[in-house]
Amino acid sequence: MATLLKHVSLLLLALFLSPTSAQSPAAAPAAPAAAAAPAPTPSSPPTDIIRILNKAGGFTTLIRLLKTTQVANQINSQLLTSSGGITFFAPTDSAFSNLKPGFLNSLNDQQKNELVQFHILPSLVALSNFDTLSNPVRTQAGADPDRLALNVTGSGNQVNMTTGVVNATVGGTVYTDSQLAVYQVDKVLLPRDFFEAKSPAPAPAPATSKTKASKKKAAEGPGSPADDSAAITWKQRKEMWGAIVGAAVMGFWL
Ligand SMILES: *[C@@H]1O[C@H](CO)[C@@H](O)[C@H](O)[C@H]1NC(C)=O
Ligand SMILES: *[C@@H]1O[C@H](CO)[C@@H](O)[C@H](O)[C@H]1NC(C)=O
Ligand SMILES: *[C@@H]1O[C@H](CO)[C@@H](O)[C@H](O)[C@H]1NC(C)=O
Repeated sequence: MATLLKHVSLLLLALFLSPTSAQSPAAAPAAPAAAAAPAPTPSSPPTDIIRILNKAGGFTTLIRLLKTTQVANQINSQLLTSSGGITFFAPTDSAFSNLKPGFLNSLNDQQKNELVQFHILPSLVALSNFDTLSNPVRTQAGADPDRLALNVTGSGNQVNMTTGVVNATVGGTVYTDSQLAVYQVDKVLLPRDFFEAKSPAPAPAPATSKTKASKKKAAEGPGSPADDSAAITWKQRKEMWGAIVGAAVMGFWL
């Protein structure tokens, strides 16, 4: 009996040690969870946001951003499928030139995408109806009432906006039909999200963990070190239990 016990405890020790030492390759950062890229539509859409902005003129930087982030395709296909329409706040080239030099380039792909989505409302709002919206207004960047707040106040055809970081004014209607309204804005609407998290590094996505919490963290962008340690602790705990169960089963066979 004493020998068996000794065997079991040695086994336990061995099993407990081996998966722990094997964990470092598993803990290596995986590819960042990229925002799902919308598939381009096969048929040519009746409304093309790029064509509209090109025709209006003065939106060179915005057009480039819409293309590189693929949000232009997303808008065009949304217009084909959504019934509520889209409102798009279009910052002019001079709005972009008022940003800090190098700011746009400092954003990673996910942040560029978030920036463009922050200028889109998932419904058609007429210029005279902005006073009917309740603040903060939900943009396509997400619903976080602090980090992604966009407050709009309208009175008559005068519409003001604030993100908490930037105050902007709607400078006029670029385009409008029954599905799409494009309004010119004099500032790039920067979400507070960009300024509250200092590190622009993408969050490493734990390869094994698919919990809601970690997905949410990854979606929130810049990762905190807490992500990793939590994932490892969880992994270690799992492995420890695996070792104990394994040892118990082996114990019966010895
Ligand atoms: C918008 O802001 C301007 C000043 O920037 C102010 O004069 C005007 O009253 C504001 N309009 C609304 C509807 O808030
Ligand atoms: C936006 O409006 C909400 C509700 O009125 C308010 O609580 C919040 O502080 C406002 N945020 C900004 C950035 O103005
Ligand atoms: C935005 O406007 C509010 C008042 O309307 C003002 O308190 C705030 O300082 C302004 N913010 C910026 C960034 O201009």
